[in-house]
Amino acid sequence: MSENAQDTKLSAIDGSRMIAVASGKGGVGKTWFAITLSHVLTRRGLKTLLFDGDLGLANVDIQLGLMPKRDLGEVVAGKASMKSVATHYDAAGFDILAGRSGAGALATLPPPRLLRLRQDLSDFSKTYDKVVLDLGAGVDRTVQILSAPAHLVLLVVNDEPTSLTDAYAFIKLAHQAGSHGHVRIVVNMAENKKAGERTYGTLAKACGNFLKFEPPLAGVVRRDSKVRDSIRAQLPLLTRSPTSEAAADVEAIAEAVVVA
Ligand SMILES: Nc1ncnc2c1ncn2[C@@H]1O[C@H](COP(=O)(O)OP(=O)(O)O)[C@@H](O)[C@H]1O
Ligand SMILES: [Mg+2]
Repeated sequence: MSENAQDTKLSAIDGSRMIAVASGKGGVGKTWFAITLSHVLTRRGLKTLLFDGDLGLANVDIQLGLMPKRDLGEVVAGKASMKSVATHYDAAGFDILAGRSGAGALATLPPPRLLRLRQDLSDFSKTYDKVVLDLGAGVDRTVQILSAPAHLVLLVVNDEPTSLTDAYAFIKLAHQAGSHGHVRIVVNMAENKKAGERTYGTLAKACGNFLKFEPPLAGVVRRDSKVRDSIRAQLPLLTRSPTSEAAADVEAIAEAVVVA
């Protein structure tokens, strides 16, 4: 194995600052949650980077109404460093490494390039307290490679059966890879706390039955009309509706699984 291949190995990666936000299915609020979590951590005084790792369908910039001049495409092409491409998002105080919307080529990066990107991110993450990765939906290779080193994987689900079966598939793969110990469940768009806990219970039971392992619950985020309202206004929820229920729920999750 060449030296270059060696340093892209998982053991060479420092994932102690990385928090991966994953989901089986799309549309469960993963990008919104990653943005809001980054904002909460920033307000807690942690220097935070939000990495748009949805390498085919980047939409952090769209939710926030940003038009980043530079994005990961340049990094992947070897034309720029992550440091030079990361932009400071003044409205919330964290940095963003933008993906490239609709750039299909990024979604189909060959594994060696993806491993190189992961190594770059690991090196770059040392200049932050926390790095939040908004991953693509699904359980494909890109998602697995990028989430593997993270010390915490927040798996976002809702109560739709497809969301739960896809989340189960994610947990099963993590279990097979031996990285399931890092997975915590976030139930999003719950009608109320109790309903969210029931949704978690369904998933935990399936995991217990078939994998003999139940990933812990990180917390429940209630369905809140203020979320859609803030996305429409292309403003972060904590800026537009800081006292909303969904904001309080994300704050509680950050408190429980990140800051604590
Ligand atoms: N807690 C919530 N309450 C109400 N609506 C939500 C909530 N979380 C997410 N949404 C809605 O779900 C939509 C999809 O969210 P998004 O972050 O783009 O999902 P994903 O990244 O998983 O595809 C958002 O446009 C938002 O309107
Ligand atoms: Mg998304």
